[in-house]
Amino acid sequence: MIQAVNDCFFLHTDHTSYLFGKLPTGQLEHFYYGRKIRIKDAGSLWEKNLFLPGNTIVYDKEHPTFTPEDLCLEMSTEGKGDIREPFLDVIHQDGSRTGDFVFDHFQILEEKAPFETLPGSYSENGKTEHLVITMKDRQYGLGLELHYFVYPECDVITRSAKLINESKETVRVQRLMSLQLDLADSGYVCTSFHGAWAREMMRTDTRVKNGKFVIDSFTGTSSNRANPFFMLSEAGTGEHTGACFGFNLIYSGNHAEMIEVNSFGKTRILTGINPRGFCFRLEPGASLEAPEAVCTYSDQGFNGLSVQMHTFVREHIVRGLWKKKARPVLLNSWEATYFDLSERKLFSLAKRAKEVGIELFVVDDGWFGDRTDDTKSLGDWTVNEKIFPGGLKGFCDKIRGLGMDFGIWVEPEMVNVNSNLYEMHPDWVIQIPERPHSEGRNQRILDLTNPRVQDYIIEEMSKVFSGADIAYVKWDMNRIFSDVFASSLPADRQGEVFHRYVCGLYRCMGELTKRFPEILFEGCSSGGNRFDLGILSYFPQIWASDNTDALCRAEIQNGYSYGYPQSTYTAHVSGCPNHQTLRNSPLETRFQVASFGVLGYECNLCDLKKEELAAIQAQISLYKQWREVLQFGQFYRGRTFSDREAERHSVSLDPSGHNEMEWTIAAKDRKSAVGLLLQSLVVPNRPHTIFHVYGLQEDRCYHFCNRPLQVNVKEFGDLVNTIAPVHIRQDSIAHNLVAKFVKMKGETQDLIAYGDELMYAGVRLQPAFAATGYSEEVRFYPDFGSRMYFLEEVKS
Ligand code: DGJ
Repeated sequence: MIQAVNDCFFLHTDHTSYLFGKLPTGQLEHFYYGRKIRIKDAGSLWEKNLFLPGNTIVYDKEHPTFTPEDLCLEMSTEGKGDIREPFLDVIHQDGSRTGDFVFDHFQILEEKAPFETLPGSYSENGKTEHLVITMKDRQYGLGLELHYFVYPECDVITRSAKLINESKETVRVQRLMSLQLDLADSGYVCTSFHGAWAREMMRTDTRVKNGKFVIDSFTGTSSNRANPFFMLSEAGTGEHTGACFGFNLIYSGNHAEMIEVNSFGKTRILTGINPRGFCFRLEPGASLEAPEAVCTYSDQGFNGLSVQMHTFVREHIVRGLWKKKARPVLLNSWEATYFDLSERKLFSLAKRAKEVGIELFVVDDGWFGDRTDDTKSLGDWTVNEKIFPGGLKGFCDKIRGLGMDFGIWVEPEMVNVNSNLYEMHPDWVIQIPERPHSEGRNQRILDLTNPRVQDYIIEEMSKVFSGADIAYVKWDMNRIFSDVFASSLPADRQGEVFHRYVCGLYRCMGELTKRFPEILFEGCSSGGNRFDLGILSYFPQIWASDNTDALCRAEIQNGYSYGYPQSTYTAHVSGCPNHQTLRNSPLETRFQVASFGVLGYECNLCDLKKEELAAIQAQISLYKQWREVLQFGQFYRGRTFSDREAERHSVSLDPSGHNEMEWTIAAKDRKSAVGLLLQSLVVPNRPHTIFHVYGLQEDRCYHFCNRPLQVNVKEFGDLVNTIAPVHIRQDSIAHNLVAKFVKMKGETQDLIAYGDELMYAGVRLQPAFAATGYSEEVRFYPDFGSRMYFLEEVKS
């Protein structure tokens, strides 16, 4: 609900309130953002100014006690006394950078007009509560619209801004942020998610008591270095209790989030396009849109915040046919074949895939041009007929004939210098003409600021997508920007390249998803180098990381889970030793961790043992049974590796439980749920563990059980001799024979309990192996061991 009362604006969601008002000076004072409150006459909310603090600037002589430096504001500029990081920074024609924006008028609307250049949130019924505040610069003919959108049921408010040049002179916009939130106090902990290739979304907690903490990306993408999602919480906030704010940005390019505590103990939060390298020429009559920023508040800890963010992303970001449609279990060829493709090899893989229950077969990189390695052919999107004599269509039909859907990989934004495309259009590339170029993965970025290049991508990809019965597309993007220069833009517009690139990309994605609404698109950028709400506004899922190691993946997926629902991040079971870490982890653990994202497989099924194939077949059939809950239920974190940073480094002997990851996904109706318990390294002599479930209905009864799994005798090494009547040498023929015929049953968990019992008291699990004995009731739980638990409501 949006209310405008006596120069004040009150935005309410189901459980939160966001309040601000117009000051006598015309600026907007931010009052409050937090749990929902009632407001009598807002008298308690205004900052009272009787005397000016020393050594500060008085805004104007009519208001001699008012300094912008010690005030919470909805937006701020340079030059009028607020010396914190500004929301807006414009260089005027005369060279001045001072901005002086004051309230002009407001409108409350019931719908949200789509942006012209950028994607944004939406409501299925077309109705979104919308407040527009228009401000005007008192000196320089500029208009600024501040937009607020309210999503009551998920307690989310989004904000964006539009700068309009109403003057007769061109100005240079150095920054236009999306959200400014000034909080009256300080000492918050900022939880941000940093990383690198194969190491995405590592949680970092930083207490900001003074000065500035900046999270940003300058790769040209939203980046694996620092995701635009972050949280701010009161010290002591945990997964289940405490007050916290969450923020994100619907944008896929360079972004910056600044948390600044000023000398008066006030905290400013800014998020938007990274001002570094940004300079946008705004001609008279032109306007510039800032990406939409998302914010939420919860007093129910990080899980409470995640529930709100997930609901928002599922309902108001992801769109199209696949929004709520079950995602198929796929097999991706990459780690099985890399660039060594042949139709025969791929078809054998596909036949195996079909046998184990795979629904979609995906040919990754290498199917086009002369792409036998990563030095050539990007940009030449014609099938390599040496690999596929019958063309892509011929092979696709064969896969369809097996009863599976067919998908392919593309990397439309890129070109190799060694390609026909580059030969024909060297000027279509982001590079400085006649200057040496710093390469990344032997490829260059196409200049998507150029509408002709956008048209080319749209038409080329349309040919590929309609050339065969393609059900799925993985859209990859494998390098970051360097030598930034677009030949299609004049010298004084080179500061727009990064942003115009992102807008060009959105045009391509928008047009292609419109032309091919039935295709399931998956975003990818060397894994998670462009995992953001901008991409998710077009593609419902993103390849979360090239790292498929189960242990690493658990931590990466745990990171994503703070801000993104599990239906948006895909996860594959791959071979062992793992290709990124050389670690061996149990096949069941690889499956269980991947099931808590969107499950797929990426390994050479043709090389697996019969036993492994049977296990995979069982996994896929189990997954299909629980797919609706796993993909679209609500994800909750219990204990996690990253819970307490300090303990992470002493996991092996730490009995406090910080070597475990505990997750639940509960169905929307709370009638069923699936849990996961995963450990990193074994803690010796700690057999007892409690598993907590989350998201259940307190007063309902549930059947709680596990999936008993057989244990291979060989896992016990020469301990087999403690029960064998004759001595068995490890790895001998005898040992292998025993392993083949003697199957050891795993432990069983089977009980009925109330929801509150399962959530608050938890389930005391069967004791784990602790070296002093073993029976079928002992939980075989080695390094990287895991268990899945299943819950279904029963009559009490
Ligand atoms: C990077 C992706 O993240 C991988 O999954 C794979 O598709 C390769 N690119 C192919 O070049």
